[in-house]
Formats: sequence, C-alpha cells, structure tokens
Amino acid sequence: MKKKWNFLGAMLAMAAGMTAQTHSLDVNTSKVGGAIPKTMYGIFFEDINYAADGGLYGELVKNRSFEFPNHLAGWDISGKVSLKDDGPFKKNPHYVRLSPSGHNDKHTMIENHGFFGMGVKGGEEYRFSVWARVPDGGTAKLWIDLVDNATMGDDQKLGNTGVEVSGKEWKKYTAIIKPKTTFAKAHLRVWGDAKVTTDVEHVSLFPVDTYKGHENGMRKDLAESLEQLHPGVFRFPGGCIVEGTDLATRYQWKNSVGPVENRPLNENRWHYTFTHRYFPDYFQSYGLGFFEYFQLSEEIGAEPLPVVSVGLSCEFQNGSNRSDAHVPVDQLQPYIDDVLDLIEFANGDPATNQWAKLRADMGHPAPFNLKYVGIGNEQWGAIYPENLKPFVEQVRKKYPNIKIVGTSGPDSEGKEFEYLWPEMRKMGADLVDEHYYRNEAWFLGTPEAKQRWGNCGANRYDSYPRKGPKVFAGEYACHGAGKKWNHFNAALMEAAFMTGLERNADVVEMATYAPLFAHVEGWQWRPDAIWYDNLRKFNSCAYYVQQLYSLNKGTNMLSLTMNGKPVAGNPDQDGLFASAVLDKGTNEVIVKVVNTGDQPQEVTLNLKGMKGSHEAQLISFHSDNLTAENTLDEPEKIVPKTSTLTVNAPQQSVSIPARTFYIYKIKK
Ligand code: AHR
Repeated sequence: MKKKWNFLGAMLAMAAGMTAQTHSLDVNTSKVGGAIPKTMYGIFFEDINYAADGGLYGELVKNRSFEFPNHLAGWDISGKVSLKDDGPFKKNPHYVRLSPSGHNDKHTMIENHGFFGMGVKGGEEYRFSVWARVPDGGTAKLWIDLVDNATMGDDQKLGNTGVEVSGKEWKKYTAIIKPKTTFAKAHLRVWGDAKVTTDVEHVSLFPVDTYKGHENGMRKDLAESLEQLHPGVFRFPGGCIVEGTDLATRYQWKNSVGPVENRPLNENRWHYTFTHRYFPDYFQSYGLGFFEYFQLSEEIGAEPLPVVSVGLSCEFQNGSNRSDAHVPVDQLQPYIDDVLDLIEFANGDPATNQWAKLRADMGHPAPFNLKYVGIGNEQWGAIYPENLKPFVEQVRKKYPNIKIVGTSGPDSEGKEFEYLWPEMRKMGADLVDEHYYRNEAWFLGTPEAKQRWGNCGANRYDSYPRKGPKVFAGEYACHGAGKKWNHFNAALMEAAFMTGLERNADVVEMATYAPLFAHVEGWQWRPDAIWYDNLRKFNSCAYYVQQLYSLNKGTNMLSLTMNGKPVAGNPDQDGLFASAVLDKGTNEVIVKVVNTGDQPQEVTLNLKGMKGSHEAQLISFHSDNLTAENTLDEPEKIVPKTSTLTVNAPQQSVSIPARTFYIYKIKK
C-alpha cells in the first residue's frame, strides 16, 4: 500500500512538473525610477597572480634594474660579470659591469628569463633599451639576441640587434628587435663587448604595440579586455598590497611616479603566498604606477578610485594588536600628506603644486579629475576609525568635493562588519567598501545561507537604509564550494546576485568583481576574471557576466516584481532572479532574467505602459555543463550569444531555459 502511494505521489509530482506554473514578471515601463550610477559596474586591479609585472604591464624583463634582494635573480651570467652599486639612479643603485674575459670563447654575457619566459610574436617590433656607459672611455658594442633556448644551432636566434655605447657618461640606448617567429618562452641575451668593459643598467624590452602605443605601456590584449568591459570605476592598486606585509612594504604611490628607472622596487604582499613556490620572486617594479593607473582609467573611460594606506599594515598577516604594524594617530601626518598630495597629483595646478607639475612633466598637464579616494582596505577593530578620523577631517577641509570610501572589514557580516558600518556613518564616509568571497548558497541567499550568514543573496540591499553612505561592493566573487575556479555555475550565481545590485542602484553606487587578472603559471588566488599566459588570454565566464551587466546597465531603474515581490529567489519563484532598467539613450527596456534552477521556466512578461509589437534583442549566456569554463585553448567555449525577436506588449510569453542568463533588450 505504501509503495502504491509513493508511486502515485511521483506521478502527481511529474504531472505538476510538466504543467509548471507560469510566472508573471511585471515591469512598469512608464514609471521611470532613479538613475543608475555611471560607476555602477567597474573593475578592481591588484598586483596578485602576476597581474602587473608579468601581466598587464608590458615590460618583458624581470629584475631589469638588478634590485631584487638576490640582485641577479632572473638572470643567467657567463664570463666576467660583476655587480656594482653606484649607478645613476639613486633609488635603484645597482647595475652590472661586463668585462672581457680575456679568452676567445669565454664570452661575457647576461641572459634574462622574463616572467615565465618572454612571449614574443613573429614579425612584430620590440623595443630594447638599456642605460650604459664605457667606464674607461671610448666605445663598445653590445649585441642583443632574443633566443629560444630549446632549439640548438643558428635557429635558436629569434631576432637580434645591437647598440653602440660611447663615453663615460650614463646614457640611454634603444634598438628595435623583430623576432622572426612567435615564441612564448624567449630569453633576452646581452653580450658584452669582447674587448671593452661596459656597464649596463635598467635593461628593458617592451612590445612597440602596447595599449594606445605608450612606451611604458600595457600589454595590449589585456588592456583591451578591460576596455571592453566599459568599466564605470577603476579601483587600484589593491587590496592587501595597499597595506603591505608590514608598514615598510605598504604601497607608497610617490615611489611609483616619475622616471621608471628611479622607481624603487617593493616587495609584493603576495610574495609569500604561493603554494608551489617557496622561494618566490614576486616584486613590484612600480613600472605600472599611479600615473599609468590614472592614464589607463581615462583611456578606458572609468572613474579612478585610488586606495591608500591608513597606517595599518595587513591585519591578516599581523593581527590587530601589534604596535609595529600600526602607526599611532599622532604620527599619521606623513600618511595624510600622501593623500593630500595624491589629490594634487591628480587634480592640481602644475603652476602652483609640485605633484601636479610632476603629472604635467610626465605628459598629462590636464587634471585627471579625481573624485574618489579609498582610505584603508580591509581594516578592522577600533583602531581603524581612530586612524581614519584625521584623514577624513583634513581631506574634507581641503577638498570637500572628494568622496571618501571607508571599509567594513573583510567579511559580508559579523562582529567587525556590524561595528564598522555605524562607525562609517558617524564618520560621514560617502561610501563603504564591502567584500564577499562566498559560496553558491550565499549568492543565492538560500534559507540555510541566511541562517549562517544573515543578510545575503539578491535581496541583501533591499533593506539597506537609503540615507547615509552608499555601498561600494569593492571585492566579490562566487567561490564554488569545493570548486574554486571560474566555472559557469559560479558566474551564473553572480548574475543572479547582481539583479539585486541593479534593483538597489539607489544605494549601491559601484561594484567590482575581484580579482581581475591571473597568469596561468603564477597565480595564488582564483577565481579571477581574466587569465593569460605569455601570449594568449581568455575572458572567464565571470568576466562575461560583468560585461553583460556593464554593457546593459541602462540609465534608470524600473520596478520589476513577480507576484508583487522582488524576484530574488523566494521559494515560490523556482530559482528565478530578475531586474529591469530603462536606457534613455537607446530608448530600450532591458530585462535581465536568471534561471538558476534545473528546469525551464515559463514566464509572462508584463510590460506595463507598452503596447503593440516591438523589435528586441535576446542575449543568452548558457552552458550545458555547469563546471565547464573557458580556457586558453578554448577561450570562447562559453560566450554570450545574441539573437533578435519581436516582443508583444503588454504581454509576451517566454520560456527561460534551465541554468541560463537571459537579457531582453526591447525597443520602446
Ligand atoms: O582580492 C584578493 C584579496 O582579497 C585582496 O587583496 C583583499 O582585499 C581581500 O582579502
């Protein structure tokens, strides 16, 4: 008897599944809501996973100034090579002396390995440069080869050039090398003159074809990925690297500007965090420095958002009670001056301010129009508001229009979060930075997740106060439970969650996925938005979700409900999430629907305020395999696809396939 009931129950359930409920999505297109901030979807850059040197920054030579603690790290040497420390650049004093060995076949030379090798493309131009001199006077010849060490004989040489060095004074010499073939693991070899001692410093090799052609420029394909995100805001230079492992290694923006040869090396906060490399070589050359960050922001159309040290080094590494990791309030003035000077560097008048003059001397006399500054990264404890207060007072007094971004600690909830938000309100912060690296349940806001974490999922911001500081979701990503990589499902969870950001665009002013970049041979943290090796790249599924939101952010919110409730994964909403915006520029109603469930869902789109038939586009982002991801070999395995359709108003029936992110763009 029991068996029979179970069978009957199963039949009834199947029948119910077959005649699944049609959901009604009600979009009020005639009542235009608040504006979507232009900054809404942005990017967050941190030099983690070899994101700067070895990544976005176009330099191919590692340890170009011989300043790594092991001064010859990254270099092979042969013959008579000696290290000297009285070079022409005060902050990078080391260089090498190449002296003739006195034997015909015993050549003096140095060879750089690059970052995991150097990626060079056949037929393209690379700019070699070096600072050099002949200490005894006269002239000397340096021969430069790009080589493929895996090949024997003459074919080893991918390309070569030479420079003639003359005189006892240090000078910069440049030459172009054009490799004949493409190779991902090239080395750069510099041969010393067979007869004349020569000193060399700051040995550099860049592709000529950098992003926007800047000599000290960015790797083009990676910068283009950023540009194609159309980011509204660009947060830099980190993360934890802003704080440093200790105060001495915090990010100091003043060291990152001016001539690249004289920007001092800094250790990277992520230097010690590789699980597979216990003797790492992860330093910051600062070649990608604050001038380059501001310039890049401008070129990709994003508002710059620099983050500065609040006088607290990384609390993860040091705890909150170590006095040597914290600057006492009465000694904070140099740190505060760094912020005031930064604002001048970005916005000031070159005629009256030394930092603004430096900006002009570096090639940008016009201001960068800085509007935001983040003070502190993931700080916590009472020490943070104590330190922050004098920064806020002095910045407010001198620059009342600059918006200040405070932080709510490293978690999306909990003791520190609960403590810091009210503190930020009291302080009058303009925005509060929230970070959440959480699993699928958190992003879906399941009842279990709510029980564990409290406020999570797409309705997280529905209950936030509308007055006071705005939210900056400064770092977030779905870290799949047991599946920490860029699989499709993690991106789908983010898409579902982001409907809640969009619905609450009156309180969430900006949001930036994190981290941004990772080298496939040098990462220590994943998932990440964009992956690459020395020659290739792929945009992850998470990247495409960010791009879909950014390209379709619209200008104004529209109210959208399902059965009178926000579509935020309520149990009766069968895994559906949705939001709607109006784009006044294109006169389109844009409806985003995410079906996170494993069944297709029938939906009636009720477009209140519209009539007749309308041209529309449908963008679909889907993968049959939830754990699949894009890869270097298959970079476009999972990408959004666009089709056209006609939508009838006010009502149109649509079917949303299982595990799919759909965007309807309906001409009004
Ligand atoms: O994004 C990686 C790290 O995560 C950031 O540096 C830090 O802010 C957070 O803990």
